[in-house]
Amino acid sequence: MSPMDAPTEGFTGAPNELESHWMPFTPNRSFKLAPRLISGAKNMHYYSTDGRQVLDAVAGMWCCNAGHCREPIVKAIQAQAAQLDYAPAFQFGHPKIFELASRISLLAPGDLDYVLFGNSGSEAVDTSLKVALAYHRLKGEGGKTRFIGRERGYHGVGFGGISVGGMMPNRKMFGAMLSGVDHLQATYNRDEQAFSRGEPEWGAHLADELLRLIALHDASTIAAVIVEPVAGSTGVLAPPKAYLKRLREITEQHGILLIFDEVICGFGRLGAPFAAERFDIVPDMIIFAKGATSGTVPMSGVVVRKGIYDIFMQGPEHLPEFFHGYTYSGHPLAAAAGLAALDLYREEGLFERVNQLEPLWADAIHSLKSAPHVVDIRTIGLVAGIDLAPKEGAPGTRGYEAMTRAFHDHDMVIRTTADTVALSPPLIIEEAQIAEIVERLTSVLADLS
Ligand SMILES: Cc1ncc(COP(=O)(O)O)c(C=O)c1O
Repeated sequence: MSPMDAPTEGFTGAPNELESHWMPFTPNRSFKLAPRLISGAKNMHYYSTDGRQVLDAVAGMWCCNAGHCREPIVKAIQAQAAQLDYAPAFQFGHPKIFELASRISLLAPGDLDYVLFGNSGSEAVDTSLKVALAYHRLKGEGGKTRFIGRERGYHGVGFGGISVGGMMPNRKMFGAMLSGVDHLQATYNRDEQAFSRGEPEWGAHLADELLRLIALHDASTIAAVIVEPVAGSTGVLAPPKAYLKRLREITEQHGILLIFDEVICGFGRLGAPFAAERFDIVPDMIIFAKGATSGTVPMSGVVVRKGIYDIFMQGPEHLPEFFHGYTYSGHPLAAAAGLAALDLYREEGLFERVNQLEPLWADAIHSLKSAPHVVDIRTIGLVAGIDLAPKEGAPGTRGYEAMTRAFHDHDMVIRTTADTVALSPPLIIEEAQIAEIVERLTSVLADLS
């Protein structure tokens, strides 16, 4: 069977067939009037239900890093489903999840040696916040309950994640549910950083704002600082040079944990297993998801430093040391997919490939500088953010039009957040396909009202 003729079992996409699925983070009414339906995928492409081959410029949603429906991963999942569909996650284990944890801990820098698995990035974020709270409490520092996030951070949609996140529309309904949270300023400043490649030169001093928050709240009340090394979902914001190192220094000096949310940055997106390695920093925890299984089976996790794990290993030996976990923590299918994905990343040198492609990618994307509506472009690793000028009085509509036109008229999946186009193709992308993305985007931008 080719991905072109993926079965849809009589599904035609008629309005009555679309009604019941309340789609996540999607304007349901608009979608259901003009749906974008995908029924197959292979390597760099999707196949739409109307029979088109569509170039995937975002690796699904920043997750299918090895490309789509790669045979070794598909086979590993199929074999695993036939051999062991599920094993209890609590009190029992299965071999593959131990192997995967060992391999991930070897990929993580320093003594980030222990992995707590979950299914989604949001779950892993909440797990990391709970680890931070419990760690301080076990150390007799129960007053350390405050978290510091950052404006324009995205940490998923759990109550913890939205509270520490800094995305306005997510926060306004539920953001205050975790008390005592404060935020660092976002690191983006267009006047100082426009059209940056890699880490912008300007902005390291913004890390010192953490000193102001420590002076305000006192370090004895602060459990952890959580940041995305490169903020993805709010528009691809690379950290200013030396900014993350400064955050590490300050948190270390004040006994505050530093959590890197690498749900997007991890597994090669920035040319290293984790962004922590690219930026030469050992945070206290790394949150991962998406690329861990190349997007094939939901899996997330938190990699934790040995010193934190060790603090938990106390109390009666018949009791769990951490009252936390999910039914599907370390699911066998996800473990099999994760191992196969790691093999593929290594065999094909996909993380190194990002380093080779990065300058070419940056040149190609920055060539859109004078295209209509473009007001800024940022690139780092195999990621790009392209800001479009918002329409007067209708912010977000130009971005939305770009996304829909790209799919319907130019056979390409892009991601937009408000008026920013975000690109993060599978790491297997060929040079010619990078040129194709630029060509198609040029046409999309020319068509925009
Ligand atoms: C940095 C970051 N953290 C957390 C999440 C939430 O992940 P999920 O959607 O799997 O819950 C995302 C999702 O894009 C993310 O980019």
